Amino acid sequence: MCGIVGYTGPRQAYPVIIKGLKRLEYRGYDSSGVALLSDGNLKVYKKKGRVTELEEEVIGKNIEANIGIGHTRWATHGEPSDRNAHPHSSASGRLAIIHNGIIENYAQIKQELVKKGYSFTSDTDTEVLLNFIEDIQKNNHNSLEEALRIALKRVSGAYCILLMDQSDPTTIIAARKGSPLVIGIGKGEHFLASDASPIIEYTKEVVYVNDYELAIVKPDELILKNLGNEKITPYITKLDMELAAIEKGGYDHFMIKEIFEQPSTIYDCLRGRLDAEAGTIRMKGVEDNIEQLKNANRIMIIACGTSWHAGLVAEYIIEELCRIPVEVEYASEFRYRNPIVHKGDVIIAISQSGETADTLVALEKAKENGAFIFGIVNAVGSSIARISHAGAYTHAGPEIGVASTKAFTGQLVVLAMMALKIAKEKGTITDARHHALILELADIPEKVDAILKNAKEIEKIGQVYKNASDFLFLGRGYNFPVALEGALKLKEISYIHAEGYPAAEMKHGPIALVDENLPVVFIATKDAYHEKIVSNMQEIKARKGKIISIVTEGDEISPGLSDHYFSIPSADELLAPILTVIPLQLLSYYVGTAKGIDVDKPRNLAKSVTVE
Ligand code: G6P
Repeated sequence: MCGIVGYTGPRQAYPVIIKGLKRLEYRGYDSSGVALLSDGNLKVYKKKGRVTELEEEVIGKNIEANIGIGHTRWATHGEPSDRNAHPHSSASGRLAIIHNGIIENYAQIKQELVKKGYSFTSDTDTEVLLNFIEDIQKNNHNSLEEALRIALKRVSGAYCILLMDQSDPTTIIAARKGSPLVIGIGKGEHFLASDASPIIEYTKEVVYVNDYELAIVKPDELILKNLGNEKITPYITKLDMELAAIEKGGYDHFMIKEIFEQPSTIYDCLRGRLDAEAGTIRMKGVEDNIEQLKNANRIMIIACGTSWHAGLVAEYIIEELCRIPVEVEYASEFRYRNPIVHKGDVIIAISQSGETADTLVALEKAKENGAFIFGIVNAVGSSIARISHAGAYTHAGPEIGVASTKAFTGQLVVLAMMALKIAKEKGTITDARHHALILELADIPEKVDAILKNAKEIEKIGQVYKNASDFLFLGRGYNFPVALEGALKLKEISYIHAEGYPAAEMKHGPIALVDENLPVVFIATKDAYHEKIVSNMQEIKARKGKIISIVTEGDEISPGLSDHYFSIPSADELLAPILTVIPLQLLSYYVGTAKGIDVDKPRNLAKSVTVE
């Protein structure tokens, strides 16, 4: 959460920072700001709202500078406003800071500073941290770097901060704990950002800063240190990302671009792993740890949001194919209760961003207890990827729309392949079923493509129901988690209240909501539960609810019970969620856009939730 950009070098800093902030807006968009340093003058411009509003704000102002920092905010402490926007300046006006994260003990530090006569111009924890640093520096007469080190030893919480000092015309000091930071290495210049997207067009050489590290960044020098002031050799990695992947490419929104990318992202996820002809799957992370995985007494899956829904589908798949008990946990619950984790327990972490704070901390806790962590992550080089013992990337490419789409289908594909591999090694699947599912997986990209070709049908349905105040999504078996995901997507993107429910369980509560105004989306594809779900449709119809159904091509029963239906190609029920979720993604997109909502940046949400 919150996007951070910094630049020091020969270029004009402002355009680099603004472009970078626009790429990072998915991380938060309540307000934004820049601090620029030239001729010993620190200029801070900030504005409530989107980055474009900041651009308007600075028109006619002096933005000449070769060093600067910028921030796009997702509010934690203090409402979104000009005064709470970052950067913040210190009491003397000499220092400027941007911060992503939460300083949990800020209230106590603030009290101490207030007693010393400090006053504050914002409600943020960040301004407290900055003045704390300045106060240490003033009292101890030490360098900014040293003062920062002392301050960070006192604070609890998460942070990625960038600091500039008016008296040091070329240096940015950065520090991280729990919130991501990447440094791009150019020729005589350095770029700093929360992820690589602002950096990619300038350099592909980057350093991922680790927790408890400090970076002293000058145009031609990058020094990494730990909090004990020992130097660390920066580990330079090459970015495997193209600029086109983070641009809209002719689509109106990133979300629809990402939905339509799914045939190719799923193909990329299968590529090099699935060999349909030979009937084999290659996954190094699984192969290298197969004994651990196949002998697990149970598997715990830890995730948040859409990734948690992928975990629920995986529970059904792994239990069915591998006969290993699976528990799926919200990371935020897992980390604060007293979970039973034994040495050698297998934990699968699922995360698009690889930076979700709750997931990260839950994993750290499980790791301390000796668990084996397998990460299924989309963002290459992210924190969760790095703390996992082994893993598999989803290879969906950068996902920028706040609502997760292509990362979800990538997660399902990886989880299905992983389950097939474990089952094969464990002997819990027949060769025939194993091969049949491999062939089915190989066909998925084409089937997704076929679904997307009919997207207009969903657009029409979206138009009919765009003014509904509530929606119900119902599914059974493998499609129950898809019902949850359909409801989540619609809530996120259209602000319509929606509930996902197991279709049969609906009788124990939600049925009370049904009347002629309630649209009920049934995921009613042909599977073992088909007759049962048809009965559930009858129950809704009898109460005059409006039925929208996702059905298998050739189904002659469900369409007759539906006010609207959308046909999708048939698939093995175990893999059906990869297909059934696509029309639901489209439905939320079309309802959201019909209501005029900025679906890439829906209110109050952020893509990468780096605060708990
Ligand atoms: C946020 C995003 C969701 C995402 C969730 C988990 O809430 O808006 O789209 O599913 O975080 O994120 P992760 O990156 O860990 O998958």
